Amino acid sequence: MKEMYKLKYHLEPASGWMNDPNGLVEKDGVYHIYYQYAYEAEGGLKYWKQFTTKDFLHYQDEGIALSPDHPHDKSGAYSGCCFNDHGLLRYYYTGNVKLPGDYDFINAGREHNVMMVESQDGLVLDHKEVLLYNKDYPSNMSCHVRDPYVYVNDGMYYMVLGARTLDSHGCVMLYTSKDLKKWDYMKTVNYHKPFGYMWECPNYLSFENKKFLFCCPQGLESHDYDYEAIYQNGYFPLSTDLEKDCKLEDFIEFDHGFDIYAQQFFKDENGRIVMAGWMGLPDIDYTNPTVEDGYQHAFTLFREITEHEGRLYQYPIEEYKSLREDKKEIHGTSLEMNTSCFECHLPKLPQSFKLHLRGVDMEYEDGLFTIDMKMNGSGRGEKHIKIPEIYNMTIFSDTSSLELFFNDGAYAFTTRIYDKSDNVEIVCNEDIDITAYSMKNITVEPVK
Ligand code: FRU
Repeated sequence: MKEMYKLKYHLEPASGWMNDPNGLVEKDGVYHIYYQYAYEAEGGLKYWKQFTTKDFLHYQDEGIALSPDHPHDKSGAYSGCCFNDHGLLRYYYTGNVKLPGDYDFINAGREHNVMMVESQDGLVLDHKEVLLYNKDYPSNMSCHVRDPYVYVNDGMYYMVLGARTLDSHGCVMLYTSKDLKKWDYMKTVNYHKPFGYMWECPNYLSFENKKFLFCCPQGLESHDYDYEAIYQNGYFPLSTDLEKDCKLEDFIEFDHGFDIYAQQFFKDENGRIVMAGWMGLPDIDYTNPTVEDGYQHAFTLFREITEHEGRLYQYPIEEYKSLREDKKEIHGTSLEMNTSCFECHLPKLPQSFKLHLRGVDMEYEDGLFTIDMKMNGSGRGEKHIKIPEIYNMTIFSDTSSLELFFNDGAYAFTTRIYDKSDNVEIVCNEDIDITAYSMKNITVEPVK
């Protein structure tokens, strides 16, 4: 039973709850991958737990990396980042403290401190310090300020913080520092019109020709097939560097799936920008049956991020190619796989088509891609993506997940899926080329 939904080539906790990727960093050829963790499968007090890997194929579970054991983070070591300061790893995260009393914990009753810990090796994180307290935020901020993300530009350091104002407008705040320890408020960055009540998990992405502010806005109303998830993930292309006189251009949804949130981005030694996301979402009305087996949630595949004509593209990193096993290729309407763990390429698609796999009905017509999961028993309903033209599509299917990429990663869709069949038939209503590979497992060594 415990094995039924276990993912084969994704990271998930052996027991307990996982949410946001945190502090992703590479040091001396080792990737340190931390995440929000609670001992209870349905969530609880937040810790940082950790995996390490050298190749994204073989992992070591390193156990708890950071505990909420300080007076200023005692209700949770919330999300944050890692900044490599000339070899010294500095981690910035939110110390959450809920004060005793009858508060709403939105506008009163909560400390949301910026904390820092340091590490030489990514394994022992210590010297906990409080860098910013409630008093260091502007007076129009609610008690929801969190998820620091630190970057450097022209020799100055900057910290972006996700925030909710007292009158419930989502925004980010920018702080600046010369020494990575003393931070001064610089400005609040808004969209030109109200855009949700809270922006969580900001990231700043800098490409040669374009910069982006990534974040997860809450409180957007769904209309015309946009913003169909309870909380969104996406990015504002920027008119210039964030710290300059910068305008947020129109928000672009990044992944349209049922189970995706709180992505984090980092640069590896070769300058590649890699992302991991939480394959989950808070406050949803559908469930994950793994809870009965004592664990919940997973990471998305690690994805390489590139920029093209002002848009971000995402695609699973090439390391996954070495998990490919048996290859099957057809020109026709259906391909049968005797496993649910596979990678499947549809390199050329007609102007409109229908596709079916694992009890999911997909349809593309008049620039609208519809994914209907109502019949597949996973409790997920229907969603849409507006895609003017589909050139190609790739499907990464694992025991209990699906990740779809369109047009080389210009659009993405991530979902959990809890069908029980091991025999998967990929069926199209028209003759198409289909190439698929069954996929081997990644390995995760238990805590030593
Ligand atoms: C996003 C989030 C963050 C917060 C963390 C707590 O999923 O709500 O804003 O730091 O989770 O686990």
